[in-house]
Amino acid sequence: MSETMKAAVIHDFGGADQFSIEDVAVPKPVDGEVLIDVQASGINPIDFKTRNGTGINRGWETVPAKIILGWDISGIVVESQSDAWRAGDAVFGLPRFPELTVGFSVFVTAPGNELARKPDGISHLEAAAVPLAGLTAWQALFDNASLENGQRVLIHAGAGGVGHLAIQLAKWKGAHVTATCSARNTDFVSSLGADDVIDYTHFDFSEKAADMDVVFHMISPDTRPQSYATLKDGGFLASITGPLSPEELKDHKANGRFVTVRANGGQIQNIAGLMESGELKVHIDAIYSLADIAEAHKHVEGGRTRGKVVLDLTT
Ligand SMILES: NC(=O)c1ccc[n+]([C@@H]2O[C@H](COP(=O)([O-])OP(=O)(O)OC[C@H]3O[C@@H](n4cnc5c(N)ncnc54)[C@H](OP(=O)(O)O)[C@@H]3O)[C@@H](O)[C@H]2O)c1
Repeated sequence: MSETMKAAVIHDFGGADQFSIEDVAVPKPVDGEVLIDVQASGINPIDFKTRNGTGINRGWETVPAKIILGWDISGIVVESQSDAWRAGDAVFGLPRFPELTVGFSVFVTAPGNELARKPDGISHLEAAAVPLAGLTAWQALFDNASLENGQRVLIHAGAGGVGHLAIQLAKWKGAHVTATCSARNTDFVSSLGADDVIDYTHFDFSEKAADMDVVFHMISPDTRPQSYATLKDGGFLASITGPLSPEELKDHKANGRFVTVRANGGQIQNIAGLMESGELKVHIDAIYSLADIAEAHKHVEGGRTRGKVVLDLTT
């Protein structure tokens, strides 16, 4: 096998033009890890935020020499130091997050216990689109908000990467789902199973939604007061776009938490099971090659993605 591989590298924080495709050393798996031939990598807002210096890397003053971004991956195990996997296995996941995974490259190493088997009927492009968004939805709705069968949940940005998976997970749990999106996405969001869809471009969602047990807040922090207004007293607001102060929770008679997603092998296996059974379907908005990573980043940065944007590492 070659000692080097292609990777999308940045040497400084900034715009999408920071990327260059370079030859870098293929990493070596250590005990408990596998080396994966990456077939596809999903792109998330955290990728462009980290690229421009407002994401995971807030604490760094400059890029440490160079970094390879990208967290969501799906691929084939080519070398295993993990009891869980053998060469030839098809796996996917969000390994190491929030540490760097270097997913925008031809090979990555990953801890075996943070991966799931890719279901046979699901392509690598589909599998790579799910981990970060799916785990975020799972951890916000189930681990933090403890969403239960029969409860009412308001899910913002129902057409986006996290939102379109969150709607399906909440329906799988048996909740009543109200979702927000713009007019062009209302049919799409209904098709995901949302019971009520609010076009936020024509209506104030806080006048259309009420008595929520849970709000999944993934839009601007400025709109949190309207989200609180839709909650029952004692309801739960799960924010993934900014921390909540104890004062605001008290003022709104609400419970809540700022949720930051973490790699979780058991949960990615649960999600794989739902993908295999057809209960969780990912929508791919666009596919780019590694060479076109700047365009892919600009697509996600535009804020209008329906479902997910994915890199095809095989082209
Ligand atoms: N804390 C964490 O661990 C964590 C994890 C994942 C994501 N996040 C954050 O959560 C946010 C959402 O992530 P994502 O991956 O879902 O992003 P995304 O896929 O880029 O979201 C795009 C979607 O947002 C919708 N949207 C934009 N403004 C809206 C509004 N005011 N009301 C309703 N929908 C709106 C758009 O729908 P329309 O075109 O119909 O407007 C579009 O479909 C990002 O800020 C991301 O950084 C945080």
